[in-house]
Amino acid sequence: MSTSIFSKAAFTSNYERMTGNCTRIVAAEMVRIKSPLITSSSYVLDNACGPGIVTEQVKLLHPETKTLATDLSPSMIEEVQKRIENDNWGNVKTDTLDVRDLSKLADNTFTHVLTNMGIYVPNDPSASLQAIKEMYRILQVGGAAVTSMWADRVWLSAFYKTAMMIRPHEEPSNMLTVDPEVLRGSWLLKQIEDGGFGNNAEVRPFATSVSATSLDELVENMMLAAPMLFKGYSEEELSQVKPVLREELTKLRTYETLEGGAVRIGMKAWIGVGWKKGDEKEVPL
Ligand SMILES: C[S@@+](CC[C@H](N)C(=O)[O-])C[C@H]1O[C@@H](n2cnc3c(N)ncnc32)[C@H](O)[C@@H]1O
Repeated sequence: MSTSIFSKAAFTSNYERMTGNCTRIVAAEMVRIKSPLITSSSYVLDNACGPGIVTEQVKLLHPETKTLATDLSPSMIEEVQKRIENDNWGNVKTDTLDVRDLSKLADNTFTHVLTNMGIYVPNDPSASLQAIKEMYRILQVGGAAVTSMWADRVWLSAFYKTAMMIRPHEEPSNMLTVDPEVLRGSWLLKQIEDGGFGNNAEVRPFATSVSATSLDELVENMMLAAPMLFKGYSEEELSQVKPVLREELTKLRTYETLEGGAVRIGMKAWIGVGWKKGDEKEVPL
C-alpha cells in the first residue's frame, strides 16, 4: 500500500486545485496522532470533511478503519461519495451535518474526531467553541479531538496586493478577512480548553504549503478563487487580475521554485489536540 499523502485523485476537484495540497499535508500529520493511535478498530469522524481529505489519509493508513465524513455542504458530501466509489473506500459513511450541531451523533461514540480547517465559521463568533463542545461530547473517554487552524494564509496577501493594484483607492472588501486573533495558536488552545478539554489540550505549529507543477498551473488554480475575491469587479478589471496576481505570487516571502519547475507557497498552520480523559472538570491547584 502506498504511504504517499498525494493520492492519485489529487486535484480532481476545484477545491483540491485551489488548496493545492495545503490541507492534505496538514491532514496527513493529524492522522499520525501518537496517542491514541488510529488503528483499524478506531472510529473516526472527519468533521467538516470537504471532499474527504482527512478520510483519504485515514484510508491510506488503515483501509478498514470505520469513518464518518460530515460536512454542511451537500456538494462536498457528493465529492466524498465519488471517492468512496472510485477509490473503493470501505467502512466510510457520510452525512450532511453542521460542526455546531452534531446532535444526530450520540455521546461517547468516536475514538477520534478530526476537524481539518473546519472549526472557524465566518460571521459566527460562537461557532468554534460550540464545535469543540460537540467534539468533546461525541468522543469516547480515552479518545482525542485533533483540530487544525491557519496561522497565516500567505497567498491571500497576493490577492490583496492585486486588488490594490487594480483599485488603488479602495480597501479590498472580499478578502476572506478574519480577526487576526483567530490566527493565533493561543486562540485555538483556548477553544479546546474552554470547549471541555480543560488541561488536556495542546497546540503546536505545523508547516504546510500550496503547490502546483508550474507557476502557470498555480496561477490558474488560484484564479478559481477570483470570482469570490473580486466580486463586483468589471470585466475590464477582471482581465487585469491574472497577470498582476502572477507577479504578486512570485513576490511572496515563502514562494519557492522547486526542481523541475514546480512551485510552492509555504504556509503555517496550528494543530491542536484535546484528550477526553474524564478528569477535565478537576480544578487545577
Ligand atoms: C477549508 S474546508 C476544509 C475541508 C477539509 N477538512 C480539508 O481537510 O481540506 C472547510 C469545510 O468546512 C465546511 N463547512 C463550513 N461551515 C461548516 C459548518 N458550519 N459545519 C460543517 N461544515 C462546514 C465547508 O463546506 C468546507 O468543506
